Parts: sequence; structure tokens; C-alpha cells
Amino acid sequence: MIFKDFTFNFRSNLISFLKKKYYLSFLKRLFLLPYKYILSNLRNIFINKNIDKINFSNNDHNLNDYLKYFDCDKSSLVHGYNKFYELELEKLKDSNLDILEFGIHFGASQAAFSKYFNRSNIIGVDKNPYYKKFFSKNIRSLYCDVSDQNSLKLLKDYLGIEFDLIIDDASHIPKHQLKTFIEMFDVLKSKGLYVVEELDIFESYPENYNKNLDNNVSEIREILHHFKDKKDLNLDEITHNIQILSLAKKIEWVKIFRGDYFVNDRNVSEIAFIKKK
Ligand SMILES: C[S@@+](CC[C@H](N)C(=O)[O-])C[C@H]1O[C@@H](n2cnc3c(N)ncnc32)[C@H](O)[C@@H]1O
Repeated sequence: MIFKDFTFNFRSNLISFLKKKYYLSFLKRLFLLPYKYILSNLRNIFINKNIDKINFSNNDHNLNDYLKYFDCDKSSLVHGYNKFYELELEKLKDSNLDILEFGIHFGASQAAFSKYFNRSNIIGVDKNPYYKKFFSKNIRSLYCDVSDQNSLKLLKDYLGIEFDLIIDDASHIPKHQLKTFIEMFDVLKSKGLYVVEELDIFESYPENYNKNLDNNVSEIREILHHFKDKKDLNLDEITHNIQILSLAKKIEWVKIFRGDYFVNDRNVSEIAFIKKK
């Protein structure tokens, strides 16, 4: 993590805790964050993998090969999202893309995307951007708490560029997915793609993803399905949110696919691709 990104992460993380009035967490983070930063740089020297030094035997690998190599749950072994990403993005494989993904965990997807889209710059975003096992000169890691609109705004201001591909693979909580979409669709380039993963997992794990939903409905999922099904759509029927209504005018199409992962006999791998006009 470059020092400039650390200073942004430090500042926005502390502001987030202050705004939420988590004063104890604020004080803890004041000391913990520099420690985590130093530790993550030491881990890059001694433990983590520099993926720029991994040479695959030939250049003819598909996205799934890389996802499986880095043990990412987007691969055919878990959600099976690889085929949808390839369907929509294979033609851009060799382009110089700017990619932003919410949700880093240990950095598997950013590593796989970096190898597949091998001329791209990738930014991973997480409320804990220090827990990575992989690093590369083409991958940056930034802090954002997607439950907090202000944190999303700070991130947007800091980024200062537009993206060809934005992926939401963070909390999977419908309200967060909606906030992230409202804030970040703005910084998607014209003809860019915005992806939301696990659109309906909240139905299978309400205790994790649905705590604050009053009526068991995900507004963002309703809107995206509405868009997918109706060509001359009247969104006023399902939302009066002015921000969404104005964003909707910038959407060219929505495709929704279903991957392969089941929990308790229920498929939890719904994924949406949204193309900007
Ligand atoms: C499924 S993992 C991401 C996996 C990664 N995209 C991949 O495919 O390898 C979800 C990540 O979302 C992060 N997350 C959860 N809640 C969040 C929040 N409120 N804001 C930002 N990140 C959050 C977690 O820390 C976790 O690292």
C-alpha cells in the first residue's frame, strides 16, 4: 500500500468512526491503523505473494483458471460467476481498463482480474484493506465502509477518475448495495459495466444480511429486475427516490444471471450486470 493511500485510509476510517460516535473504536484505530499498515508492508516482504512475479506457463488462460489459482469464490468451484464475467468482458481482455471492486478479503479476485485483464489498473476497497495475501504494482487497496454514505463520498472524491468496471462484492446487504450503486454509478465511464454480486443472498441468511430490512424486500433488486424485464419501464411504480430515478436515465440495459452456489437447497448466486449509456 502506497503511503498516500494509507493517509487517505487512515483519515477516512477515523472520520467514519467519529461520525458514528464510536469514540473508543476511534481511539483504538488511531494506534492500530499505523501498526496494520507497517505489518501489511512487512507481510509483503516476508509472506505475501507478489503476483507480478508469477509466470503462468502460457498466456492462454481463461478467467476461471486465474480465479481457481487464487482460490476466489467467483470461480466455477463456488459461485460460477466466471462464465458471466467472460461473456460480458472477454472482448476487453487486452484493453487498458480501470477496475474498482468493493470487497477485498484476502485479495483473490483483484489478483485474478489483474492477471486476466493484464493491462489494467485495479483498486480494491474494503473496510479492512490490510488483510491481503497478494500484491502487485497494478493493484491498490483503499478503505471504505459501504454502510456509510459519507465514507463512499470521501472515496469518490479521492479516486478522481472514472472506471470501466465497478464490482460490488462487499457486504451483500441490500441497503449497502443500493447506497454504493447510487454513489458510484456516477464514476462509471460511459459504456462501462457495474456488477452487483449475491443480489438475493439476504433471503437465505436474514440474520447476516437482512437485520434492518422491514419488509424483506431489496429495493435495488426490485429496481434491477424491473429494468431487466421491461423495456419502456415506469420506475415511479416502485420507487420515488429522486437519485435513483435520475440514475435510471443513464442505464442502457440490465442483465441478471444465476450462478451455481447453493446453501440449504437455495441458490444464493444471483448477479446483475448494468451497462451505462
Ligand atoms: C466476499 S468478501 C470479498 C471477496 C473478494 N471480492 C473476492 O472475490 O476475492 C467480502 C468483503 O467485504 C468486506 N465488507 C463487509 N462489510 C463491509 C462494509 N460495510 N464496507 C466495506 N467492506 C465490507 C469484508 O471485509 C470482506 O473482505
